[in-house]
Amino acid sequence: MDSNNGHCACVHSLDHHETKQNGDRSSSFAPNPKKPKLTAPQVAEAQESEASLVQAEFAHHESGVARINNGSFGSCPNFVLKAQCEWQKIYLQHPDRFYFGPLQQGILQSRKVIAELVNASSIEEISIVDNATTAVAIVLQKTAWAFMEGKYNRGDAVVMLHYAYGAVKTAIQAYVKRAGGSIIEVELPFPVSSDKEIVDSFRKALAEGKSGGRRVRLAVIDHITSMPSVLIPVKELTRICREEGVDQVFVDAAHAIGSIDIDLQSIGADFYTSNLHKWFFCPPAVAFLYCKKLSQSDMHHPIVSHEYGNGLAIESAWIGTRDYSSQLVVPSVLEFVKKFEGGLEGIMKRNHDNVVLMGKMLADAWGTKLGTTPEMCSSMIMIGLPACLKVLSEMDALNLRTHLRENYGVEVPVYYKQPRDGVEEECAVGYVRISHQIYNVVEDYYKLRDAIKQLVADSFDCGKLGAA
Ligand SMILES: Cc1ncc(COP(=O)(O)O)c(C=O)c1O
Repeated sequence: MDSNNGHCACVHSLDHHETKQNGDRSSSFAPNPKKPKLTAPQVAEAQESEASLVQAEFAHHESGVARINNGSFGSCPNFVLKAQCEWQKIYLQHPDRFYFGPLQQGILQSRKVIAELVNASSIEEISIVDNATTAVAIVLQKTAWAFMEGKYNRGDAVVMLHYAYGAVKTAIQAYVKRAGGSIIEVELPFPVSSDKEIVDSFRKALAEGKSGGRRVRLAVIDHITSMPSVLIPVKELTRICREEGVDQVFVDAAHAIGSIDIDLQSIGADFYTSNLHKWFFCPPAVAFLYCKKLSQSDMHHPIVSHEYGNGLAIESAWIGTRDYSSQLVVPSVLEFVKKFEGGLEGIMKRNHDNVVLMGKMLADAWGTKLGTTPEMCSSMIMIGLPACLKVLSEMDALNLRTHLRENYGVEVPVYYKQPRDGVEEECAVGYVRISHQIYNVVEDYYKLRDAIKQLVADSFDCGKLGAA
């Protein structure tokens, strides 16, 4: 790995390339299956040209920073930024013409691309909104209205995961609690090694939600939890919801598109949202919200404008004068990913493989463990930190993250795992969540590895940061 020209060993191994070439999937290196097999030097050349493409595309990233946190804010290549700038110019050149033509056609085109990528049954099911937070507000607003208008009984439940994103939990409190609903949290084990552990906890929470004659009106399920990051078996949980009579299922998949395959018809949820600015190379900020055909009644954008009542997709396509360019570049992202071997699918697979490889490398170097199995992670993975660093609170985790940024040039989120009540054998421990995106190189992870090793060698612990 050390002699890997700066790139993770499995970014393009010769074996991988040969498999692709002999298989039936398209590849930017081997567009024609009849093309003669590449020699090792040719493969090396192709890898090098992809590496320089990546360097040019992300040249705006601050140099000297090991940016292994794509999960938080995503990233956007120059190719897509240029396309965004073109859209902004089209608007500024002649706003009236833009409003009456290119804007609506462009948004329609983006919705079409998304609908195909996620296997929605129709374009009508896809709306484009600013971000996952907005999508959550749209769904919860509908739930709150149902409580307030007496369609749901006081005390009926909304179920969410304990590891739901903080802002989503706050939104559920804000909309549901005030409207008279109760909230049930699904306790999840972490570290976690099987879907069964998640499924069992979920069933328990649904039973609690249904106790005393209550109904579970909405289940909010993450597809990939943020912190700790775990790939959740959403299809299975949605199926259980149907069996148990849960009214509606909303999947918060903020990290999903561009990171894992999404098949909405197969998942079967009522609502599903994903940011496109995290793993799908869009500029900030843009997300899609899927609403199954049968679940579309009374769905409204929280910002009411001219299009109110014309369906969520149309309402969302005009929420007042603003910059819509991030929503219009979705087709350009498709063009961008085609530059890479295997297109988006190839990128997703390599990101997953590489993050697992780097996670294992770090756990070995530190003598710790991964927080999930490789199958239960996407392009992000959790790795335990050495216990001697004493990450004993959320403040310690934040302080350590800041310390790594300011003193070692490493950007990585740190997670504090609180021991569960009554689980004697569990002790508090810290984890890092690493991401892998196409711009990452193996040195980014070595930098983190060595920073932590240095801290251990210096007998550092987080208490020292708190005291400083
Ligand atoms: C699971 C999850 N849900 C929702 C969000 C909110 O995304 P945004 O801030 O783009 O609205 C995030 C952001 O990281 C997330 O990880």
